[in-house]
Amino acid sequence: MAADELIFDPGVLLPGPVCEFQGYHAAARHGGLGILPWRTAWLEATAAGVDARSEAPEPGEVRFPQALVHLQKSRTASWRDLLCAWNLLEPGGRLLLCGGNELGVTSAVKRLARELEQAPRILANRRHARIVAFERGDGPGPLSTESTRIVLPLPDGTRPALHAEPGVFSAKRLDVGTELLLETLAGQPPPRRVLDMGCGIGPLAFSALSRWPEARALLLDADARAVASASLNAAALGLETRCQIDWWDAEEPCPEGDFDLALVNPPFHGGKEVDLRPAHSMFARLGESLALGGRALIVANRTLPYEDGLESLGTTEVLGASRGYKIIGFTRRVNRRPRVHTPRPRSSGSNRR
Ligand SMILES: C[S@@+](CC[C@H](N)C(=O)[O-])C[C@H]1O[C@@H](n2cnc3c(N)ncnc32)[C@H](O)[C@@H]1O
Repeated sequence: MAADELIFDPGVLLPGPVCEFQGYHAAARHGGLGILPWRTAWLEATAAGVDARSEAPEPGEVRFPQALVHLQKSRTASWRDLLCAWNLLEPGGRLLLCGGNELGVTSAVKRLARELEQAPRILANRRHARIVAFERGDGPGPLSTESTRIVLPLPDGTRPALHAEPGVFSAKRLDVGTELLLETLAGQPPPRRVLDMGCGIGPLAFSALSRWPEARALLLDADARAVASASLNAAALGLETRCQIDWWDAEEPCPEGDFDLALVNPPFHGGKEVDLRPAHSMFARLGESLALGGRALIVANRTLPYEDGLESLGTTEVLGASRGYKIIGFTRRVNRRPRVHTPRPRSSGSNRR
């Protein structure tokens, strides 16, 4: 990304450790800490020897002379990072915001300047990106949005409000695709073990556990903020003993297997572009983690050709479609070995009926 190329321009980083949000290259060079909620970035950073965490330390645990925040697509998530960075800075420390024009860096800088009541110092401005600095004063810092509450209608008629950290999927209301998948659960045979791949704040698994009191669930997501939200929600719903929630990326093996039902609302965007790679990685994991004959319900935008990625692993059928989405029912093939054609002994025709 163009903005990342600017962080090593002369005068951008001061000598000394840096607390870096949503990136780790500055921390790799200067020492410090990378805050990386996305699992693949955290794995890469730790493999490169960087001290990396999935969430920011508590204020008071450590202090930094400088903090660098990489702007994200989600403005609420960026503001949460800016507030965390502010709280981790030493008095007089430097708050750096880095981002490209495609992420709206100009308006983000204006808003931050207004909230901090300071003029930004532009440290680098080229390649359609910029890095600006503010000084840590005594004020309260950036005005971060609080986490939101999403209503989940459950089969027993209750409507609990789920907690959603800034930046997680469907942080404003339940996704239409999720709603459609939840409607499809009614016709399913009761499963024992449910897998929720890309769980977000957990609506699919929690609805399944509420519908089928004997079932247990494994919830997996690559975004640590989703994992944190789902964990809070499981406790609030009294479901924590019936589920396990793990930080996991679809490129990694599934931590458990032998599931009889998987529920998947796969991601299909990487930034503004359609990116089906994480979805296809999830499908490959379904092939490994479902019990033989186990089923998955997958919700997809009606135009996405997910069936192509599933057919080598089992059978698919479209169970329903509405509001621009379709539900694909997938059944893992019982015999995974390729069929070998063995010629039959020639029959005289006498055993033909
Ligand atoms: C479309 S959202 C669905 C969330 C939730 N199941 C729902 O229906 O509200 C897709 C989820 O997949 C997660 N995700 C994205 N890429 C992933 C990956 N490579 N591995 C695992 N999870 C991923 C996202 O963090 C997000 O929570």
